[in-house]
Amino acid sequence: MSRFLFVLGSSRRDGNTEQLARHAARALPADVERQWLWLGDHPLPTFADTRHDNPLPPPTGNEKLLLDATLAATDIVIASPLYWYTVSNSTKAYLDYWSNWLRVREADFKARMAPKTLWGVTALAEDTSQAEALEGMLRRSAEYLRMRWAGVLLGNGSKPGDIRNDTEALTRAETFFLPARV
Ligand SMILES: Cc1cc2nc3c(=O)[nH]c(=O)nc-3n(C[C@H](O)[C@H](O)[C@H](O)COP(=O)(O)O)c2cc1C
Repeated sequence: MSRFLFVLGSSRRDGNTEQLARHAARALPADVERQWLWLGDHPLPTFADTRHDNPLPPPTGNEKLLLDATLAATDIVIASPLYWYTVSNSTKAYLDYWSNWLRVREADFKARMAPKTLWGVTALAEDTSQAEALEGMLRRSAEYLRMRWAGVLLGNGSKPGDIRNDTEALTRAETFFLPARV
């Protein structure tokens, strides 16, 4: 059974990125489980590179919550707005933590991430070409962990709700998750 984890990385609730992701998710089959986590509700401590501390203690608090949700998912959707041509700071922090989780023995992170699929959903105010770096970093991150990379759904908007005027993005959203059915 599929289980989608939506990692919401906007610094505001119910922004364009989240609205686009929720629109796309409505097309998922009813039996697909969904979990929505707004990173603002689960702030991570400032990242510290502890990969080489041996052994890494099992995570606690918000870090454990995010690790457990990540491992429980079959599909991870990074729903981050475009900030300075890449993901938001909370999204980047979440991804930085992946590198520590690779060293948590109990997590078996690399082996358990490999069968999963990584997706992206992003709203941006300017031209979609500005999302090249974001698309590249997510694709390369998937490749690094030997995950399947399913691409980024892009939509346009500046203030919350603008995404509803991007009818082309809404139409793309309605079939974006279709490959998940096979
Ligand atoms: C810190 C910051 C940086 C941004 N950088 C870009 C950018 O590089 N390119 C762009 O097109 N829009 C940029 N934007 C605009 C947002 O991507 C846009 O408002 C988007 O709709 C926000 O998504 P949200 O509604 O999900 O929060 C930026 C906005 C902020 C607050």
